[in-house]
Amino acid sequence: MNNKFIPQMEPWFGAEESNSINEYLGEGGWMTEFKRTATFEQLIAQFTHAKHCIVVNNGTISLTLAAMACGIEAGDEVIIPNYTMIASPNSIKMFGANPVFVDVEKETLCLDLDKVRQAITSKTKAIMLVSANGRYPKAGISSFEQLAKEHNLVLIEDAAQALGSFYPDGRHIGLAGAVGSFSFSAPKVISTGQGGALITNDDDIAAKLRRLKDFGRSGGGNDIHDTIGYNFKFTELQACLGIEQMKKLNWRVERKKEIYKLYKKHLANNNNIRFFDQDLENTTPWFIDVLAEQREELMAYLKQNNIGTRIMYPPINKQVAYQVPGEHTISELVGKKGLWLPSASQLQNDEIEFICKTINAFYNK
Ligand SMILES: Cc1ncc(COP(=O)(O)O)c(C=O)c1O
Repeated sequence: MNNKFIPQMEPWFGAEESNSINEYLGEGGWMTEFKRTATFEQLIAQFTHAKHCIVVNNGTISLTLAAMACGIEAGDEVIIPNYTMIASPNSIKMFGANPVFVDVEKETLCLDLDKVRQAITSKTKAIMLVSANGRYPKAGISSFEQLAKEHNLVLIEDAAQALGSFYPDGRHIGLAGAVGSFSFSAPKVISTGQGGALITNDDDIAAKLRRLKDFGRSGGGNDIHDTIGYNFKFTELQACLGIEQMKKLNWRVERKKEIYKLYKKHLANNNNIRFFDQDLENTTPWFIDVLAEQREELMAYLKQNNIGTRIMYPPINKQVAYQVPGEHTISELVGKKGLWLPSASQLQNDEIEFICKTINAFYNK
């Protein structure tokens, strides 16, 4: 048995991050967003090839602001996958818009195009396309862009799990919609502790987002307010982390892909574990997500062997917070069998081998 517990996920900050924070503190800055935040935004804009990047304090409020900046209002319907982190629907519930839950594709766990089409009503104003584990829908992003155009809907991309993932046409995930949103919470590919970023090529949306996050100020630092806004600003301390983490992003993207390949190799002959379709050329698997037979027993066995796992998101319509009737076969299947295996970038090859051997041993008992 392995002596050291292998967590399902752990954040990874090093000496570079602490040096950067210490250096900033030594300068006696104001903490609130300023030059380092601007640099962090530029780094994300460069990496994703977005015209604008606006950072905010997390990847939930970023979705709220994205929807508000795109003109979504209380009472409007927004189509959202029934398999996603609960932040996706909660973000628009916050200002009274209504999520309409639609099932996902079995291969990618992204929205099912035909089911989206069937769910459109006269109240539908937007589609929130969530990139599940960096994946894009099998139906193709252009089909979603086309559908949104046909029905005059706004396409918002929840790319919280997708930094380092691209569509096959070369665009970074998050740039196909009117606005795309990332999260930098602790388990993400890179983290600023908490944090979110919005990318867009639309000047008007970018200006609205900047006002919404800063009290509706008409310009940096002034107290002139033509519109209502709030305070969802970033801090320079988070930016210090983010700048250093961005320098490590390319390596982490490659490492995540290697980790995924190793799991697939070592579990190739295990019919009790099923992987989803992950295009490793273009996308970066954030977590190792699988469907596992006898999931609960497997989790307990892995825990006894010092291996941490996590159940994937349950179907949102069945969450007590929502309780919306409807049968959504794929998100329900994920709710029963979906499992995240250890996925941290710092995972060692021999640890992956040990995890897979333990999984195989469980089913061969
Ligand atoms: C798909 C998705 N959307 C939104 C969020 C929310 O991001 P945050 O935790 O930064 O608020 C997450 C976080 O895990 C997520 O996975």
